Amino acid sequence: MNKPGAAPRHVAVIMDGNGRWAEARGRPRVEGHRAGLDSLQDILQAFGERGVEYVTLYAFSTENWARPLDEVEGLMDLLADAIERQTGTLHARGVRILHLGRMDRLDEKLARSIERTVALTKENTGLTLSVAFDYGGRDELLEAIKEIVRQGHKPEDIDEHLISRYLYTAQVPDPDFLIRTGGEMRLSNFLLWQAAYTEFYSTKVLWPDFGPADVHSALDAYTARERRFGTVASEA
Ligand code: IPE
Ligand code: IPE
Ligand code: MG
Repeated sequence: MNKPGAAPRHVAVIMDGNGRWAEARGRPRVEGHRAGLDSLQDILQAFGERGVEYVTLYAFSTENWARPLDEVEGLMDLLADAIERQTGTLHARGVRILHLGRMDRLDEKLARSIERTVALTKENTGLTLSVAFDYGGRDELLEAIKEIVRQGHKPEDIDEHLISRYLYTAQVPDPDFLIRTGGEMRLSNFLLWQAAYTEFYSTKVLWPDFGPADVHSALDAYTARERRFGTVASEA
């Protein structure tokens, strides 16, 4: 049970609406993605100030490969750029960076740079920032099942705990709160297993317009909720 008032320990964010933000300005979609990176540091800071310990950002889904090639390439370049330009500040702030998702389809140079960032920030004890890039919830479950079989686990030994250990998120607790910008009301293959009891929040604000004030509004909405996890309402 969770009474209203407590801050979420882990917030996951579906950063959606970059394309619409750019299109509304008559600009190429990739400019929306670039604009979406601008307030990242301020947003993370706001989460940290409110006591959030884990932030997970959905940056590129396993389905996003189906977008036009120039947009996919633009997104790859932006990730490489963000790693280069923002890792130093994040590291200085004690942020531990994790990657969730597949590595095998990323360009070799990008994959190495992700690995270096994860290794560099491994011992940091501040906020844990997980970046879901080439991430899909179904893909994650499939990979986990294959690995569980490869490792020879007996059916009777397989429980929820064991499955969680084989997911990309093995090092992070389940998200308490999921924020989706851009107004859609769907998961889009994000954290399917982990979001079993996550509180969902959708805002029409497009990701490039989302800032610290929106973080506070979202967290205020969370703290007013009562989580029941399938039991009955707690007594006042
Ligand atoms: C989210 O913004 C970022 C990614 C999916 C990479 P979109 O590009 O999906 O923006 P909209 O939904 O088209 O506005
Ligand atoms: C979800 O957004 C993926 C990311 C934010 C990275 P999409 O824009 O890809 O999701 P759909 O297509 O609207 O479901
Ligand atoms: Mg979208």
